[in-house]
Amino acid sequence: MKKLSGFVLCIMCFQILNAQTTTPLTQLIPKPISIKEASGVFTFYKNTTIENAPALLNAKKLLQSQLINYNFSSTKNSSKIIFIQANAKDPITKEGYSINITPNTISITAKNIQAALLATNTLVQIQLLQSNAQQIPCGTIIDSPRFEYRGMHLDVSRNFYPVSFIKKYLDIMSLYKFNTFHWHLTDGPGWRLQINSYPKLTSMSAFRTHNDWKSWWNSNRKYLSEGDPNAYGGYYTQEQAKDIVAYAGARGITVIPEIEMPGHSEEVLAAYPELSCSGKPYVNDVFCAGNEASFVFIEKVLTEVMAIFPSKYIHIGGDEAGKGAWKKCPKCQLRMKDNSLKSEEELQSYLVKRVEKFLNKNNRNLLGWDEILEGGLSPNATVMSWRGEQGGIQAALENHDVIMTPGGETYFDAYQNVPSTQPEAIGGYLPMKRVYNYNPVPAVLPKDKQKFIKGVQGQLWTEYIPTTYHLEYMSFPRAIALSEVGWTANENKNFADFTQRLQSHYLLLQKLNVNYYHPSTIVEVFSTPDMKEQKNKISFSSEIFNANIRYTLDGSTPNINSIKYDQPFYVGGEVTIKASVITNDGVVHDPTIYYSNYHKAIGKKVKFNTLWDKSYPAQTESTLTNGIIGSITYSDKQWLGYLIDFDVVVDMENVTPVNKIGLRFMQYVGAGVYMPKSVSYSFSNDGINFTNPIKVDNNIPDTDKKLSFKTFESQLSNISARFIRVQADNSRRQFLFTDEIMVN
Ligand code: ACM
Repeated sequence: MKKLSGFVLCIMCFQILNAQTTTPLTQLIPKPISIKEASGVFTFYKNTTIENAPALLNAKKLLQSQLINYNFSSTKNSSKIIFIQANAKDPITKEGYSINITPNTISITAKNIQAALLATNTLVQIQLLQSNAQQIPCGTIIDSPRFEYRGMHLDVSRNFYPVSFIKKYLDIMSLYKFNTFHWHLTDGPGWRLQINSYPKLTSMSAFRTHNDWKSWWNSNRKYLSEGDPNAYGGYYTQEQAKDIVAYAGARGITVIPEIEMPGHSEEVLAAYPELSCSGKPYVNDVFCAGNEASFVFIEKVLTEVMAIFPSKYIHIGGDEAGKGAWKKCPKCQLRMKDNSLKSEEELQSYLVKRVEKFLNKNNRNLLGWDEILEGGLSPNATVMSWRGEQGGIQAALENHDVIMTPGGETYFDAYQNVPSTQPEAIGGYLPMKRVYNYNPVPAVLPKDKQKFIKGVQGQLWTEYIPTTYHLEYMSFPRAIALSEVGWTANENKNFADFTQRLQSHYLLLQKLNVNYYHPSTIVEVFSTPDMKEQKNKISFSSEIFNANIRYTLDGSTPNINSIKYDQPFYVGGEVTIKASVITNDGVVHDPTIYYSNYHKAIGKKVKFNTLWDKSYPAQTESTLTNGIIGSITYSDKQWLGYLIDFDVVVDMENVTPVNKIGLRFMQYVGAGVYMPKSVSYSFSNDGINFTNPIKVDNNIPDTDKKLSFKTFESQLSNISARFIRVQADNSRRQFLFTDEIMVN
């Protein structure tokens, strides 16, 4: 009975998917509120006219510049596109619009130019999704965004990209309805904006000794003069920046500049050392907050910045400012005393509040990373919550606007697949699915505070992204997934439906010559214990759309005749599962090998003699016996982190024969995660006296840089026990991460 209903459901899914693949309007990303298809097509002719309400003129201009016109030669006099301005009372939202496509006319209705630009980008996307650009299907789209802030960030300090690429990036952003470009223009590795009152910011601090960021970072981090044949870097002139602002604006995108302070400012202090606490170049990375000259500098720079960027927000960074120099600086200490500031955090807050006052006086609002909460938030500041969501939650509870930018869900510099299959990245693991499934409104936020979450943004920090080609690879399709997070109501989001639509967007990206990350043929295996069945429930997924996955349970390598995966299945005891994607060309791709173990300790209580580190609590007490194996990232909430020795006791409830025991760890040296020196087991029936100690030594060297996993396993004979003590030696005092104790 169960099977039959699953089957019926599957047929229905198939029909829905099939219907969608034949109807291009339904392929739009982000998904609109409503799409009604109608019969017939609208044809673009050589003499198709575009009419506009006066206030929507710029939408007409954008459409004219973006429509693909493959020199259509045929003509028809009644063919037209009209931009209609909805009246003020129309219930349509600020960025809402409708598009009605009939055989002779496309009518676009919007209240204002911003909404008309969004509608234009929808129409351009529809045309790009067509194989025949001259015709698009008839129908009606009604649309409106979930969030008012939908951003993409780009760090041009670690690596510098030309104006032509920034424009390409803006083109793609606009196609996916992002309305904000957060331009990270200044940071230690290079200042990137011409500032007339401080010319050394560009003549010196926009150029460094090494092309490659990592080599520079590992060197003595020096700058070189503009024109030096060995200099790497560059900057945008004010004219170029204004051109970018205009280009973005024509596409419905606001550019927010970020000028970092008080930290991440090594490049400023190399050129103008008098603004640092030591007064010497190459010593400090933080402005001296006790020196009025710092405020003069900040205000002069921001004055020039505001003349280029008309955005309501000016981003002042505020992140990761070390306070060590301030602690030793007489001027900073005097400033603290004079203003009754109790800590260096309050001194940072003093600086941010002064800068906010200055911005507010100029009718701008201050935006900063979540460190600006420390020491007291400025009265009108908006917070970007990057160290998880906590900063955003706190700011929203204090009635401040928030943009959600959490590292785990929106940092596109992280690996998007198993690191060994990818170019070097900064670390972390952020597959597209995780981006898609992100909901920027935290569940813990009370209803009346949810309105402070203004939106979401994807981050591209570029330490490991030297080329525009690579930048595209890291951005897409994750940014496309994020576009739907920012636009589409949570209840209308569906990952399976999204991936189906995404297939046509891969072709669209090809048309636009974008080097996107291609879906991987790796099979991901998910296992959850089922206490009733006393087995693990196994399911597979792959980034390949509608993947043909074949698997074996006998240790053999899968081939085209192996069992075809169509629904989750159960396995008991210890089973080695091997699963491969088989692509249409008949290639059987490298299998994922997964060891499934429905073991005796699942669900049993664990007493912790030593506690996990509070940064990595995973599932707390239940983590080690929940039957769930951690994934490739220690931030997936299945890995318990330890900075001290590990020492726990499992209570098996009854005296139980133990034939095999193991404790699993990961090692990822680059992130400071190591194997323990050894793992020890001992056994007891009373929980007090433990006997039969066994020690398993580590055999994975710490010179092994690749991500690795090891179960510290031991086969036993003639041992029965109720209590099992498990200890891991962390005398190195680096992070240990462990996910499961397995008892067979
Ligand atoms: C940041 O990633 N330091 C904001």
